[in-house]
Amino acid sequence: MSANTTVAPILQANNIEMRFGGLIAVNGVSLTVSPGEIVGLIGPNGAGKTTFFNCLTGMYRPTAGGVIFEGKPLSSRPHLVTKAGVARTFQNIRLFPNMTALENVMVGRHTQTRAGVLTAIMRGPRYRREERESTERAHELLSFVGLDAAWNLLAKELPYGDQRRLEIARALASEPRMLLLDEPTAGMNPQETRETRDLVLSIRDQGLAIVVIEHDMRFVFTLCDRVAVLVQGELLTQGTPDEVQSDPRVIAAYLGTTDEEQS
Ligand SMILES: Nc1ncnc2c1ncn2[C@@H]1O[C@H](COP(=O)(O)OP(=O)(O)OP(=O)(O)O)[C@@H](O)[C@H]1O
Ligand SMILES: [Mg+2]
Repeated sequence: MSANTTVAPILQANNIEMRFGGLIAVNGVSLTVSPGEIVGLIGPNGAGKTTFFNCLTGMYRPTAGGVIFEGKPLSSRPHLVTKAGVARTFQNIRLFPNMTALENVMVGRHTQTRAGVLTAIMRGPRYRREERESTERAHELLSFVGLDAAWNLLAKELPYGDQRRLEIARALASEPRMLLLDEPTAGMNPQETRETRDLVLSIRDQGLAIVVIEHDMRFVFTLCDRVAVLVQGELLTQGTPDEVQSDPRVIAAYLGTTDEEQS
């Protein structure tokens, strides 16, 4: 599916800037994502990709700019971002290592359950019903990412690729409408990478918009509808995979050559 300009964007990040002291990690980056679109975010190490995600998800409060999600300003507090319908995974996996795969996914559902603390303590009927529904949904999500057989294993016992899949299941547990993936195939073998590509496509088929940061160019260019390129905190260009792959500025940015050397 390609960007459909007649449909209102699901996400509009406007002129996002993130400074750390004298360093400008993200410098006036704007990005629009349409519903059902898969957008790739690429760029050399240190380009500001993860920092940009952190600005979108309330991990950092941008020093300038703002984010509109589904027509409303997006909060810059992580739990409210999740509640608004945006979920993410992390470049450095953040699971609870001593909890089972199922428990990790159930933690991701906490924004969905209504039972208050007191209800939980008293373990009333509403709490028990929500627990049962949460458990069912968590199993469903584990199956969806291909991990239901491992539901009772501790996260730390899972192979690395499965931990990345579990992170995706945990992110989906908040029932988001947009998913941000930070290097989902890092450390995966080619087979696992192909499976992750199919998984991302099936997540999109469920109606989610996706932004994915990745260094694996084959993965990005065969998966994404559109690709945005960050270099030194700035958006160098964005376009279809074909446009971006053949852009000499993108090649130069990756090879570290200057414009003069290119021409
Ligand atoms: N909390 C922070 N304090 C200071 N500098 C930071 C902080 N977070 C990120 N940076 C700096 O911002 C720049 C962008 O980092 P970022 O992690 O966003 O890059 P990236 O594009 O995700 O790189 P990679 O591909 O290696 O993951 C780097 O120079 C980094 O050192
Ligand atoms: Mg990063």
